[in-house]
Amino acid sequence: MPLSTDPSVSQTGETILHTLKDIFHPPPGIRPARFSSSTGIPSLPDSNPNGNPRGLALRFHLAPDPATGRRVHTDIIAHSVDAFPGRDGGEALAFFAAVKEGRVPEFLADPASESARRFVAAPKPTPAGLERGEYFAVNTFVLVDGEGKRTNVRYRIVPTKGVASLSDEEAEGKGPDFLYEGLKETVQGGGDPATFKLVVQVGEEGDVTGDNTVKWPEERKLVELGEIKLDTVVEDDPVAAAKKIIFDPIPRVDGVEPSDDPLLEVRAHTYLLSGRERRAA
Ligand code: HEM
Repeated sequence: MPLSTDPSVSQTGETILHTLKDIFHPPPGIRPARFSSSTGIPSLPDSNPNGNPRGLALRFHLAPDPATGRRVHTDIIAHSVDAFPGRDGGEALAFFAAVKEGRVPEFLADPASESARRFVAAPKPTPAGLERGEYFAVNTFVLVDGEGKRTNVRYRIVPTKGVASLSDEEAEGKGPDFLYEGLKETVQGGGDPATFKLVVQVGEEGDVTGDNTVKWPEERKLVELGEIKLDTVVEDDPVAAAKKIIFDPIPRVDGVEPSDDPLLEVRAHTYLLSGRERRAA
């Protein structure tokens, strides 16, 4: 994925990255290739609610490009709450800056901070297991069929066994690695594998695509695209693997396109900067 050449995107992306690093961890920490915990601080115990929302990033490996022979992949990056504190890079940065400077209450009291208020208020419980959380990609994407028909969608990754959450008290009694160790046991235990349904919420005429903070009506059709089955724990050096992977919020394959959501470009720029710094660290 290339860095953005739009000066406003690159400037906002760079400032956001520095703001996030100041809040959480300079230099950026290593995160698991697929599941992650909010803040990205590796030493944060799984029982700490500040690790919510949890993240799930999926990479789909496609056939190599026949013309160039280059490997082709596309990602879906989701987290366990259907909300985000801003509609664009500027709003996201304003929220992150308030967190960094310890003035969240004042920021939330501003009438202009409606999206951030909704994000903060949205329940973000600790999942009973990483395979029992529901994950939302939040932004809108466009699926394009062979005839060029375009369909606006929002991805959800839904646990097959159903969503199960813990209260803060229940989470407190758990070990520091209970989510990641628990997932390993589920996957390796020979019982039910960890499975999810990849689902899209299908937008209709007039549904807002360029602002993730405007939700579509819950009665919009949900279509299941397939099942995700986690049946292997990758035993490669996890540090090396995590260093290598840089997820890309923008799909760059035929048939899946970004919508006009302005957050996507800033995210792609910021993730690439962050990932490059992590590889260099
Ligand atoms: C302007 C908006 C956003 C900014 C600036 C931002 C920033 C970042 C950064 C810097 C990283 C680390 C990337 C890396 O080092 O590889 C990251 C990871 C992540 N973000 Fe965001 N983010 C934004 C929006 C969102 C949204 C809307 C979601 C919800 C779907 C989200 C979910 C995640 C997840 C799950 C990860 C971990 C991915 C992994 O496993 O590497 N982010 N974000």
